[in-house]
Amino acid sequence: MKLAILSRAPRSYSTQRLRTAAQDRGHQVKVLNTLRFGIDLSGDEPDLQFRGKRLSTYDAILPRIGNSITYFGTAVVRQFEQMDVYTPNTSWGIANSRDKLRATQILSRHNIGMPPTTFVRDRADVIPAIERVGGAPVVIKLLEGTQGIGVILAPEMKTAEAIIETLQSTKQNVLIQRFVKESKGRDIRALVVGDRVVAAMRRVAKGDEFRSNVHRGGSVEPVELDPDFERAAVRSAQIMGLRVAGVDMLESDEGPQVMEVNSSPGLEGIETATKLDVAGAIIDHIDNQVAFPEIDVRQRLTVSTGYGVAEIAVHEASDLVGKSLGDSGLRERDITALTLHRGTMVIPNPNSHHVLEAGDRMLCFGKLEEMRSMIPSRRRRTRKVKRLPKEPIHDARPE
Ligand SMILES: Nc1ncnc2c1ncn2[C@@H]1O[C@H](COP(=O)(O)OP(=O)(O)O)[C@@H](O)[C@H]1O
Ligand SMILES: [Mg+2]
Repeated sequence: MKLAILSRAPRSYSTQRLRTAAQDRGHQVKVLNTLRFGIDLSGDEPDLQFRGKRLSTYDAILPRIGNSITYFGTAVVRQFEQMDVYTPNTSWGIANSRDKLRATQILSRHNIGMPPTTFVRDRADVIPAIERVGGAPVVIKLLEGTQGIGVILAPEMKTAEAIIETLQSTKQNVLIQRFVKESKGRDIRALVVGDRVVAAMRRVAKGDEFRSNVHRGGSVEPVELDPDFERAAVRSAQIMGLRVAGVDMLESDEGPQVMEVNSSPGLEGIETATKLDVAGAIIDHIDNQVAFPEIDVRQRLTVSTGYGVAEIAVHEASDLVGKSLGDSGLRERDITALTLHRGTMVIPNPNSHHVLEAGDRMLCFGKLEEMRSMIPSRRRRTRKVKRLPKEPIHDARPE
């Protein structure tokens, strides 16, 4: 394949290792400076310029977008997606993982363990928010920090309040998060490639520091991951739309707690700690997946008028409970189940023999009108204002 590594650091350890791994496997590989692309929307088809000239054809890209150029970098990746070039990390995955709040919001509905986190804006809401996550000591985080900068441990309520007020007064948004004491300055970095963890290490903070980032002087050691840590890491990366990711987890009393999913994980620390060929695994994965560029399924499936994608939940009272998919009548109503979600398990392409249970959720494609009746109305919060009467109260039109 012909691969472009998008990076502004051609000489960094990670870029060099990835380039060499690709060359060793007989691929054509170029490191292209992300900031030298021009996004060309003038022609009939989406196109890209590089250093002022039309870019030649590539089969795949590997984005290594630094934090300081997220906006431009993800725009370049998005353009490659529009051109059907394979990327292991999607533009929205990279953008979402950059913002600690956005990432936490996206993960929060998927049963992934995470430290209790809140986000408030008004001064009056700060103390209740700290109390909600368990009180002081409490961790305060800038939304877009990296390398441990912007992660603060506030020992008591008063200091926490003062820190948050100071940051907010300079227009910085902060997360309030429970301090996971029992992790004792240690955390786990799992390197996910595709559907598996290819390497993992434990990072240990220096001295009485609580942040274990290598940039904060943390040391690293290889670690055998428990299956629940492995599962949490792989699922987090999948949900974020990242096929290459560094997932950071705390070892809490309640099991793994995901803090962060990094879209451009550094390779030096983890390869040194584990002696594993992570770069090679990344290149092999891309080579294996290159025929399957990202498709916005919902968007593509919604272009036929009247058809679309919806999630149908099987409720206790539903007459679907106990019926097999074949007998459910869905097919007859022009509805196809694409996946069946049961708890944390997903059955892709469920066949007609699967028997539906209460609590199942099906991702379906079909006639929207047919599916409308199967989607329960949303639980409504009580209305604060009265509904308008059907008839106008009085006719206000001029005579
Ligand atoms: N809620 C927490 N409880 C305990 N330690 C934490 C918590 N959040 C972060 N840490 C420590 O601080 C480090 C940096 O936090 P993280 O959210 O990963 O920010 P960054 O993006 O700067 O790496 C983590 O690796 C971990 O060691
Ligand atoms: Mg981190």
